[in-house]
Amino acid sequence: MIYLIAIGVFAGLLLALAALIAVAERVLVNYGICNVDINAGERPLDVDGGQTLLSALYTNKLFIPSACGGKGSCGFCKVTVLEGGGPVLPTETPYLSRKEVRSGLRLACQVKIRQNIRIRVPDDMLNVKMFTASVAGTREVTHDIKEIRFALHDPPEISHRPGQYVQVQAPSPDGPVFRAYSISSPTYEKNEVELNVRLVPNGIGSTYLHNLKEGDPVTFTGPYGEFVLNEDPAVEIICVGGGCGMAPMKNIIYSLYSRWPDRQCWLFFGCRSARDVFYLQEFQALARKHPSFHVFYALSDPVGPQEQWDGEAGFIHLSVDKHLEAGVRRQAFLCGPPPMIEAVTRVLAEKGLRPQDIFYDKF
Ligand SMILES: Cc1cc2nc3c(=O)[nH]c(=O)nc-3n(C[C@H](O)[C@H](O)[C@H](O)COP(=O)(O)OP(=O)(O)OC[C@H]3O[C@@H](n4cnc5c(N)ncnc54)[C@H](O)[C@@H]3O)c2cc1C
Ligand code: FES
Repeated sequence: MIYLIAIGVFAGLLLALAALIAVAERVLVNYGICNVDINAGERPLDVDGGQTLLSALYTNKLFIPSACGGKGSCGFCKVTVLEGGGPVLPTETPYLSRKEVRSGLRLACQVKIRQNIRIRVPDDMLNVKMFTASVAGTREVTHDIKEIRFALHDPPEISHRPGQYVQVQAPSPDGPVFRAYSISSPTYEKNEVELNVRLVPNGIGSTYLHNLKEGDPVTFTGPYGEFVLNEDPAVEIICVGGGCGMAPMKNIIYSLYSRWPDRQCWLFFGCRSARDVFYLQEFQALARKHPSFHVFYALSDPVGPQEQWDGEAGFIHLSVDKHLEAGVRRQAFLCGPPPMIEAVTRVLAEKGLRPQDIFYDKF
């Protein structure tokens, strides 16, 4: 017992000391104006020192992915710091591989600007914009997932790649927060953005989105994400989704068939029970129009007598294993909970897919 009290007191002292140092740094230390050099002079910025790199970039309308809003818990805000970033912090190491640390990658929300700093960001990120829009419509597609459409106002058009996502701004008692949602509308729909949002109990972003009504104003940034569709139509496309991981798949499939009506594409979608199934009829209609499109939904929980289900049963990686033969040139996009992604990745590797041909978003 005495040891526990001693540990508690010691931890409390450390926390108090850290808070004191943070306050002292804010009040006493003035870093003045610092220069942020982006991509060797492409976008030079003069910013107030003392703030994080993420907030300095955000204030200057350079939107880095930041699903956790700068708390250091998503690992999304990686940028290459070439000079002036100081040492890598213990809060960053869980999200950076040794190779990434060697190449200068850092979490922008953890790097404090204390001097001039030189960074490199992918060109894609310089094109991310902030959009103002309004809700064009909402529709319940399952008991806990809503399809929500935004009509874009400023700018009035978005240009995105299949599988990319946006970060929606939601109000919270501690100020605005951003949450990532994949775009479910296809790339040829330039004036609207559609999302599929699953309601997380007490979740800030999903509750806000589920309560939106037609005409309500919304703000989001985007597009983000590293999904890149192979442009060679001979390469088959595999989409595997689970839970609310349908949105990027829908975007990829409709975008793909608008360009290549005969391209081979496979959709595998895993749900828990029949009440979680959505878009099945739409995809079956698409498959009748494009015989090169193959659709498989599988339910993981035993089907009750009241549930009419003549599709597959079991985890979705088993369906992938059953239907795909090995040794075909393919690219795969996976989206859903981490255990599903890991199981499907293993199956795809056994079928001969190379790691660089497998893209995924875990959520
Ligand atoms: C790249 C990317 C794309 C995404 N695309 C989509 C999408 O298309 N549709 C979609 O619905 N979501 C998507 N997400 C997840 C989304 O960003 C939010 O994390 C999710 O909506 C929960 O946010 P919240 O603000 O409602 O909950 P929070 O306020 O962040 O969390 C509330 C509580 O719920 C817990 N929690 C958080 N997330 C989950 C979860 N998924 N399941 C159960 N408990 C949880 C937290 O630990 C916390 O205790 C995506 C995430 C990423 C990273
Ligand atoms: S914004 Fe999430 S880790 Fe930096």
